Amino acid sequence: MKVCEIKKDIYWVGAVDWSRRDFHGYSTDKGSTYNAFLVIDDKITLFDTVRSEFRSDLLHNIRNIIDPSKIDYMVVNHVEMDHTGSLPDVLEAVRPEKLFCSAMGKKALLDHFHRPDWPYEVAAPGDTLSLGRRSVKFIETRMLHWPDSMFSYIPEEKLLISSDGFGQHWATSERFDDEVDLSELMSHAAKYYANILLLFSPLVRKLLERLKELGIEIDMIAPDHGLIWRSHVKDILEAYGDWAHHRSRKKALVIYDTMWHSTETMARAVGSGIEQQGVSIKLMDLKVNHRSDVIAEALDSRGLVFGSPTLNNGILPRMAALLSYMKGLKPREKIGAAYGSYGWSGEAVKIMNNYMKEMDFDVVEPGIRVKYVPTHDHLKECVEMGKRIGLAINRTGD
Ligand code: FEO
Repeated sequence: MKVCEIKKDIYWVGAVDWSRRDFHGYSTDKGSTYNAFLVIDDKITLFDTVRSEFRSDLLHNIRNIIDPSKIDYMVVNHVEMDHTGSLPDVLEAVRPEKLFCSAMGKKALLDHFHRPDWPYEVAAPGDTLSLGRRSVKFIETRMLHWPDSMFSYIPEEKLLISSDGFGQHWATSERFDDEVDLSELMSHAAKYYANILLLFSPLVRKLLERLKELGIEIDMIAPDHGLIWRSHVKDILEAYGDWAHHRSRKKALVIYDTMWHSTETMARAVGSGIEQQGVSIKLMDLKVNHRSDVIAEALDSRGLVFGSPTLNNGILPRMAALLSYMKGLKPREKIGAAYGSYGWSGEAVKIMNNYMKEMDFDVVEPGIRVKYVPTHDHLKECVEMGKRIGLAINRTGD
């Protein structure tokens, strides 16, 4: 991809990964980007690098602007390999005077690359580095989403280089938020938040407060994945506020897997009952919906209703995978219920109820179990349970 001057003498020099379809279990149906930024100042500085497979792209982009050996400083905002995989090769070409990272970043770099000889310079939280006409303020963002994570803020440019924060997995030839469809952009940002940052929501809330307290002005947020925010900075900050506070709307997901369509038939009846209470529903069959897309839809859903038949005294593997994944991401303030068919032992509903209790859901118990194939009366029961879920959602207000 061609380099892009995002502000005067500040360049996007990253890489676009059009083919990425899986990111440690997160389905990236539209690829991703690994953004890196080059600031030309008295001290020429490179912020972040790219996955190892794209090291030639990064160096090619840099060479289109300057000789890499002219770079003075490098900054590693985050050590995960999608931003450092190419670091050994880039360091070889650049040989910077200093390599800035957080204290935890230095430890993580040593544990990844085992190179004590690199020119580490630990940036303490709040440290300011002068580049000449510009400066860089390092903002600690520990556990957003790794212990080493930090942001770099350039006050003279009102530019926040935000590492994984505010990112999206979306491969595009456009670089800015106002060059693409905003609703699609926000849906990628929501999916990213739901799958990467949701469990750290308490820290995101603190970070948003801290950014306000610091009084920093931001007119551009440049994340390490996806589009750069310049026209919708306020929108993405507000969306992060909503997501971090677990704000949801009157919407319920009816999530299920099925063996011989009994649980699927129950899912439709449960959904019908919820709908009858004026609550928006979405049925998500796990055979055709990836768990990372379910989590994305769950972000603004107040109701999450799970259906699985019993298999081997347990639940179907796709439901087990979803619930295990979801539990790790710590969704909060949800209303839940469970249902499913069974043949003889019938543990599935209890197992799903237990998962929901572990996630602090408000569970509409006991759920519904149907032996083998539901009758008309069983389906009426499912509709009634759906109505109770819809009522519970309505009672929580808008
Ligand atoms: Fe984009 Fe946590 O790496």
